[in-house]
Amino acid sequence: MSDVMARLTARLGGMIAYGGDYNPEQWPREVWKEDARLMREAGVNLVTVGVFSWAWIEPRPGRYEFGFLDEVLGLLHEHGIAVDLATATASPPPWFLARHPEAMPVTAEGVRLWHGSRQGFCPSSPAYAEAAGRLVEQLAARYAGHPALALWHVHNEWGNHNAHCFCDASAAAFRDWLRERYGDLDALNDAWGTAFWSQRYGDWAEVMPPRATPAFRNPGQQLDYWRFSSDALLALHRAEAAVLRRLSPDVPITTNLMGTLEKKVDGFAFARECDLVAVDHYLTAADPQAHIDLSLNADLARGMAGGGPWLLMEHSTSAVNWQPRNIAKAPGEMRRNSLAHLARGADGIMYFQWRQSRAGAEKWHSAMLPHGGTATTTWRAVRDLGAELRTLRPVAGGAVEAEVAMLFDWHAWWALELEARPSVDVRYLDLIRHWYAALWRGGVTCDVVHPGTDLSRYRLVLVPSQYLVTDADAASLCRYVEDGGHAVVGFFSGVADERDHVRLGGHPGAYRGLLGLLVDEFLPLREKETVALDDGTTGTVWSERIVLEGAQAVRTFASGPAAGGPALTRHAHGRGTAWYVATRPEADALERILMDACGEAGVTPAVSAPGGVEAVRRAGADSAHLFVMNHTDETVFVPVRGTVVTGAARPADGGVEVAPGEVVVVRETAGA
Ligand code: GAL
Repeated sequence: MSDVMARLTARLGGMIAYGGDYNPEQWPREVWKEDARLMREAGVNLVTVGVFSWAWIEPRPGRYEFGFLDEVLGLLHEHGIAVDLATATASPPPWFLARHPEAMPVTAEGVRLWHGSRQGFCPSSPAYAEAAGRLVEQLAARYAGHPALALWHVHNEWGNHNAHCFCDASAAAFRDWLRERYGDLDALNDAWGTAFWSQRYGDWAEVMPPRATPAFRNPGQQLDYWRFSSDALLALHRAEAAVLRRLSPDVPITTNLMGTLEKKVDGFAFARECDLVAVDHYLTAADPQAHIDLSLNADLARGMAGGGPWLLMEHSTSAVNWQPRNIAKAPGEMRRNSLAHLARGADGIMYFQWRQSRAGAEKWHSAMLPHGGTATTTWRAVRDLGAELRTLRPVAGGAVEAEVAMLFDWHAWWALELEARPSVDVRYLDLIRHWYAALWRGGVTCDVVHPGTDLSRYRLVLVPSQYLVTDADAASLCRYVEDGGHAVVGFFSGVADERDHVRLGGHPGAYRGLLGLLVDEFLPLREKETVALDDGTTGTVWSERIVLEGAQAVRTFASGPAAGGPALTRHAHGRGTAWYVATRPEADALERILMDACGEAGVTPAVSAPGGVEAVRRAGADSAHLFVMNHTDETVFVPVRGTVVTGAARPADGGVEVAPGEVVVVRETAGA
């Protein structure tokens, strides 16, 4: 995958990709020329075209009109701007659902969702697959050899709005998927535990998607339905990719994934089907720690890209339009966000969208060229960043230094949050974010990876939450520690197998030997209840009664239902060490726990910087670049050795002073 990104960079003259979604169909032709001119002025070298152009390319069924795309691609090419051409399948035109009302998505309650927004189709609809397939054939045949074409952009944000459909076509496809997975009904009944509540199936026709029911739905049925739904979209992705590979074999294929912003789509599975990993990321304006979520998602993008560079396909220059209160970015924030992605392995910085719409549902969403045109702060920031990225071109291709891995798995997320669990407060992303933020505050960079990844190159592996784990992935973590690795495991991990069956023989099932303990009983806490630990810190959400079987108690509960029992344990296992965290520690306490583990594992931050300062190193073949991002309101001193490439830094003894909100990129001196 990194080769593909390197080829794209070479195609762009060695530059970091810079641009955004370009939707010229929303504008009269005269504007297109101005667009191309201003793109040049801003240093734009790659734009995504055609994401929502289906109704323009195929205005009536089977009638294809390419005039507008021919003209736009020609114009962009003349201006030296490469094109990431979308397959346009994300929004079928009104004629499609008028002809195929059966392709409308249906909710679990049986409500049909009509045309008038986007992604208005059932992922298992044969009519949709056929219409999309025909469109992609036409596009690929016409543009395969176009000189502007640098990348194919399959669909757009698969499953963002329509991942779960409960219609009859979905029911039939679900049955086919289950037949493939289980072979026969006995195996299905066993996997779903249908001996419970008289749910035994005697005929495939009785098997349904988990439509609305009077009481809890079968968890095995639900979990498989999440898997099936992600796979149904993946099948559509594969079908498009197959057409593109057949007709346009030289052009790489991507799709814009959504990381933690999309629960329903297994990002790792999609990443495996792309030549190049691309992601979108949007900040949650209400979250004061939104920049940490950005870092988490960038590290996950890199994990999906197998550690290599990736492309940031969309983020925003300022406010979005889909949150309750759409807060504009503060001066300098867009640059800080963009450079944080670059620091964490992006070789391309793109936005939604180039020119702010004047009509439609997204007219109040920011863009590179706002309604106010070139007289705006945002435009100036966009133009300045384009110039800065040209200076930063040697960063492209560099590998991000990370000695820690954090395990992330969509299947564990799905399973943890099914109905009827010990506590609704145990939320997958909450735990991932809480642990990630603690590590981030400690200044340590991690790769966010799938549990099946080869862990041997990491000094430390963090497992914030892994309710469901396959036998193979559990064995891999155990082996990693036996061979000398260090792991920290969060509560309620290792307890269920991939069918969501409890692992018997004592909790925490797969990790009882690794952790050297037995959980006698889970003791989840009341809403907002806190329990004290013996070091004066507190935990929330969870506690449990632990019997030590070789592990040592590092901290004990001082109050609450598990008072007197272990809260944090450490177990020497094989040649390595495994810690276990039996509550949700308060932020500072968790930071100390993880930093102690880092210390024992020999992991150090990229540079010793004050709290709230993010420092990440990207090392290329010839040089290493240290990115320093000051998220605080104070000027900070950071010890660095090297030359400041971009950003305002005041030289100081042994380092630099970085102003509030500033980003400084330092080309490090060898041996620093
Ligand atoms: C993305 C989507 C874009 C645009 C953007 C607005 O989810 O791919 O088309 O809608 O959000 O933030």
